[in-house]
Amino acid sequence: MRYPWLRLAIFVVGCLFPVWWLYEAAMNLLGPDPGKIMMDRLGLGALTFLLVTLSMTPLQKLTGWSGWIVVRRQLGLWVFAYIVLHILAYLFFILGLDWGQLAVELRKRPYIIVGALGFLGLLGLAVTSNRYSQRRLGARWKKLHRLVYAVLGLGLLHFLWIVRSDLREWAIYGFIGAVLMLLRVPAVARALPRMLQRRRRAL
Ligand code: HEM
Repeated sequence: MRYPWLRLAIFVVGCLFPVWWLYEAAMNLLGPDPGKIMMDRLGLGALTFLLVTLSMTPLQKLTGWSGWIVVRRQLGLWVFAYIVLHILAYLFFILGLDWGQLAVELRKRPYIIVGALGFLGLLGLAVTSNRYSQRRLGARWKKLHRLVYAVLGLGLLHFLWIVRSDLREWAIYGFIGAVLMLLRVPAVARALPRMLQRRRRAL
C-alpha cells in the first residue's frame, strides 16, 4: 500500500470530527438543539470533504506528486460517510422518525429534494468506486464519475437554498467550487502547469 501514513492521517481526521461532536453533545456543549448542530456540521463536513476530493487532481497536475491521486478515492468515501450521517441525523433528530411527516417536510423544505438527488449521485459513485467496477465499466467508469460535478452543484444549491440571507459562508464554498471547476477547463488545465514551470525556471 502506497503512502500508508497519509491514508492513516485522513482516516484519523475523518473519524475525529464526528467523535469530537458527539463528545461535545454528551457534555452539553452544543446548546439547546445539539441534534440540529450535529446535522449542520455533518453537512458542512461533507461539502468540505467534497471540495478537498476535487482538489486532488489539480494538485497532482500542479505538483506532479502522485500521492494526491492515491488518496482521492478514500476522501470521496468520507464525503459519502458524512452524508449518510447527515441524513441519519436529519431522520432521527429533525424528523423524529415520523415517516408520516416526511411528505409535509418535502413540501415545506424543497431543498431536501435537491439534497436527496445529491445523495443518489454520491451513492452511485460510492458503489462503483471499487477496482472491480472500474474494470467492468471500462471507459464508461470515467464518464459515470463525472457525476461528482453534478453532486457538487446539487450540494451547493441545497446549501444556498438554506442560507438565503447571509451568503458569506456559502460564498467561500461556492468560490472554491468554482475555482476547482475552472481548473478542469481543458485550456486552463493545460496552460497552468506550463505557466508554473516557466515561473520556477525564472526564479
Ligand atoms: C437526502 C439527502 C439530504 C437531506 C435529507 C438533507 C437535509 C438537510 C437539512 C434538513 C438541513 C438543515 C436545514 C436548515 O438549517 O434548516 C441541511 C443542511 C445542509 N446540508 Fe443537507 N441534506 C441532504 C443532502 C445533502 C448533501 C448531498 C449535501 C452536500 C454534499 C448537504 C450539505 C448540507 C449543508 C452544507 C447544509 C448546511 C449546514 C449549515 O447550515 O451549517 N446535504 N441538510
